[in-house]
Amino acid sequence: MSSSQKSFLGRGALGKLEEVLSETSAESVFLVKSPGAYEASGAHLLVDQALAKVKTRSFDGFTPNPKWPDILSALDLFRKEPCDLIVAIGGGSAIDIGKLVSFLALQPAAPEAYLKGEEEPSEPVIPLVAIPTTAGSGSEATCFAVAYYEGKKYSVAHEKVLPYCCLVDPALTDGLPPLWSACSGLDAFCQAVESVWAVLSTDESVAHAKKAILLALEHLEAASRSPTRSARDGMSEAAHLAGKAINISRTTASHALSYTMTSNLGIPHGHAVAVTLGAVMAYNYGLGEEDCLDPRGPG
Ligand SMILES: [Fe+2]
Repeated sequence: MSSSQKSFLGRGALGKLEEVLSETSAESVFLVKSPGAYEASGAHLLVDQALAKVKTRSFDGFTPNPKWPDILSALDLFRKEPCDLIVAIGGGSAIDIGKLVSFLALQPAAPEAYLKGEEEPSEPVIPLVAIPTTAGSGSEATCFAVAYYEGKKYSVAHEKVLPYCCLVDPALTDGLPPLWSACSGLDAFCQAVESVWAVLSTDESVAHAKKAILLALEHLEAASRSPTRSARDGMSEAAHLAGKAINISRTTASHALSYTMTSNLGIPHGHAVAVTLGAVMAYNYGLGEEDCLDPRGPG
């Protein structure tokens, strides 16, 4: 998967939005924003100001872990009056919706055909700027987007799904409540751990994952219980690095096992993944050389 992406990381990164708008010469923007998080994160203060100079249409009609009808609603709204640029602000769900609208908007076949891998994109995508308001999914750094179709999880994976640009500003996570800090942080931690043992891992992905694990071990508890600026900054970087790691390696069993818990029981994604991480780690530890399907070999 390609990892070519313009990225701005660290406090103040959101301020780069005006520069990105100017660079892309965008005259119209389709804004996908998480209901509530757009204002709660403080993103609206800078984003509304940056977007005041361009024609903007907003979409926030979705719930966490986006369902296919949510994607179709966003796509319908976009296609009624296409925009030059998509800006997605929120957790993984908002960014996944932004990715899917970006990817699907100009494609000629039925959207379901791309979701199910029956069609390859023949047309360009609409450039997407991804701005996370949680420190978790790392979705801003990955080439895949998740949607739930009739209760089943699908992932569209294509290098064209990678956002054109991401702005990762930890200040947007400063006001996250403890439960969401913990759930999103656990997602980042589990993604990094799974990435290390994933058979598709490379030296590059392992380096990203190891750094993410160390950052999460240092900062996740503080970010969840008594957040400091340093803890927020650390988890923001951990989540982005874990996203870069799984963009190469993908995730493994704990993620695969989590989707039904989220879809059927409503357990938040990061919590659902963390439930089985220990058991999967113990299982993997017990495997011998004869069980190893890893192309890198055992060890
Ligand atoms: Fe995840």
